[in-house]
Amino acid sequence: MKIRRERAEDRPEILALVAAAFPESVEVRLLRGLFASREYIPELSLVADDGGELLGHVITTRGWIGKSKSLGLGPIAVLPERKKQGVGTALMRATITAANTLGEPSIVLLGSTEYYPRFGFAPADSLGINSPDPSWGSHFMARALDAFVPGTHGQFAYAPPFNTSG
Ligand SMILES: CC(C)(COP(=O)(O)OP(=O)(O)OC[C@H]1O[C@@H](n2cnc3c(N)ncnc32)[C@H](O)[C@@H]1OP(=O)(O)O)[C@@H](O)C(=O)NCCC(=O)NCCS
Repeated sequence: MKIRRERAEDRPEILALVAAAFPESVEVRLLRGLFASREYIPELSLVADDGGELLGHVITTRGWIGKSKSLGLGPIAVLPERKKQGVGTALMRATITAANTLGEPSIVLLGSTEYYPRFGFAPADSLGINSPDPSWGSHFMARALDAFVPGTHGQFAYAPPFNTSG
C-alpha cells in the first residue's frame, strides 16, 4: 500500500469509499463541497492505494485561527473491511508530513479523543485555539506543526463547506 495524492480519476472511488465508511451522506456532501472549494489544497488530499484499489482517503483544507492560516482535517475514511490495519495511521502520518513540508503551522480536527492523540493532537484550547462550537469539548483537537508561532490564538474557522453541508 502506498499513500499518494489523489488524481482526478480517483474521485468516484473516493466518494464511494467515503459513503461506505459513513452510512449517513453528510460526509459525502461535505467532501464534494471541499473538492469544489477555494480552500482545497491538492497536496493534502491523499489516498491509500493498494495496487490500484483505494483503501482510504483523507482531506485537509484551509482553515483559520482568527486571521492566521491553519488547516482543518477531515473527513478521513477507511473502507470498513480494511479498518484496523494501519491505513488510517498511514494517512494521518502522511498528512502531517505533507503539511509540514508546505510550511503550514497547524492542523485542527474534530474526532475521537482515543484515536488522534497518538498523532500528537491535543484539545485545541490547550494551544489557545477556540472551538467554533463549544459543545465539541475535548473532541476539538489541534496539532502544532514546525512552523507554529507560539502565541497564535483565536477562534478556529473551517472552510465554508463545513458550515453548509450538515
Ligand atoms: C477512523 C478511521 C479513519 C481509522 O482508520 P483505521 O485504518 O481503522 O485505523 P488504524 O488501523 O490506523 O488504527 C486502528 C486503531 O485506532 C483505533 N480507532 C480507530 N477508530 C477509532 C475511533 N473512532 N475511536 C477510537 N479509536 C479508534 C482502533 O481501535 C485501533 O486501535 P489499536 O491500535 O489500539 O488497535 C476508520 O476507522 C474509519 O474510516 N472510520 C469510519 C469513519 C470515521 O469515523 N472517520 C473519522 C471521523 S473523525
